[in-house]
Amino acid sequence: MNKKIGILTSGGDCPGLNAIIHAVVKCASHKGWEVYGIPYGTDGFLKLEHGKCRSEDLKLREHGYDLPGLLHGIDILQFLSGSILGSLSKGNTEDKAIAQTIIQGYQNLELDALIAVGGDGSLDIIYDLAQKGGWNLVGIPKTIDNDVPFTERSIGFRTAVDTVTSALYDLTFTAASHDRTMIVQVMGRNAGHLALHAGIAGGADIILIPELTPKIDPDLINDICIRIAQLRWSGRKFALIVIAEGVKNQAGEKEKYIGDYLAQQIDEISHKLCLTDKPEFCDLDAIETRATVLGHIQRSGTPSSYDRLLAAAFAKKAIDLIAEEKYNQLVVWQNGEVQTQPLDKVVAHIKQRHELGLCPSPVEPDGFLVQTARSLGIYLG
Ligand code: F6P
Repeated sequence: MNKKIGILTSGGDCPGLNAIIHAVVKCASHKGWEVYGIPYGTDGFLKLEHGKCRSEDLKLREHGYDLPGLLHGIDILQFLSGSILGSLSKGNTEDKAIAQTIIQGYQNLELDALIAVGGDGSLDIIYDLAQKGGWNLVGIPKTIDNDVPFTERSIGFRTAVDTVTSALYDLTFTAASHDRTMIVQVMGRNAGHLALHAGIAGGADIILIPELTPKIDPDLINDICIRIAQLRWSGRKFALIVIAEGVKNQAGEKEKYIGDYLAQQIDEISHKLCLTDKPEFCDLDAIETRATVLGHIQRSGTPSSYDRLLAAAFAKKAIDLIAEEKYNQLVVWQNGEVQTQPLDKVVAHIKQRHELGLCPSPVEPDGFLVQTARSLGIYLG
């Protein structure tokens, strides 16, 4: 049976969103289905209801994005970062009238199903709307934070790991030239997956993640200074520190520039340590630091082959679920293959963790990657 489905991207963007859209349109078109791209997440339904866009303009065609004669038929979309549909970071769905208009928008478009590509925050909100509006929903997880529960991987994470790893490589040589300690602040919200993965792959000496180092205190700084001084003694005159943005300051508060904060603390405490007679500090006046905030660079860049493959596999599964009329499912990656999890279970878990102020899927403090980092001699707090 021919179907009319919608797709939207919601929450912070990440590499691989267009690869999902591309694969969804291809898989659906081969079944003879129609795909509608909802602009700016659930706000697209509002726009439709307010007459700010027309449903016929939202139709995505398999080659609708090609510019014939210019791109020679190159299927470019899967290689582009961002989302051609636009994405919505914060929508106002708590307002009942707005929520009702969004629900109405879905109904007026007469969709058979909706694919929502989102992170923990958006999946939670869209699932609530879907329940209220009786939508046939299938979710696909995306986020560079990799903190969606019940999936080992979310779209965008692996590309972000590559971006951070490559930045660490680039910083290594300037750090080495000046015998400096480079501090690299990476995203991840309250999770340390990105910092941990990239820190190990990029040769960091110290990795600070909220799961193992919830806050920066003087003892920690002392240990870090000693570790850096020991590295110098062993012949490595520079150091690389990766700090996840979720690590808090001494007062237990979030800092916008926690990397700078750490640099200041190291400057202060290392000056004092250099005045002591500790042997590691005898040839040092201070530890010279520089902080780099990688910022939204981590959300862009050509999606890696891994993310493009994951996007294709997730899209195919989402289309299969709709064909079987099996809704309210999240497509996930578990044990090396694509699987599904009921959205009610996923969303209940997310809500419960958010209520406690906790990350829905943090780094396991005793997990294998943490053990790996420790075995390599990386300091983790
Ligand atoms: O959740 C993805 C993420 O990139 C986080 O890592 C980061 O804290 C946040 O979004 C940044 O959000 P914004 O794009 O609103 O600045």
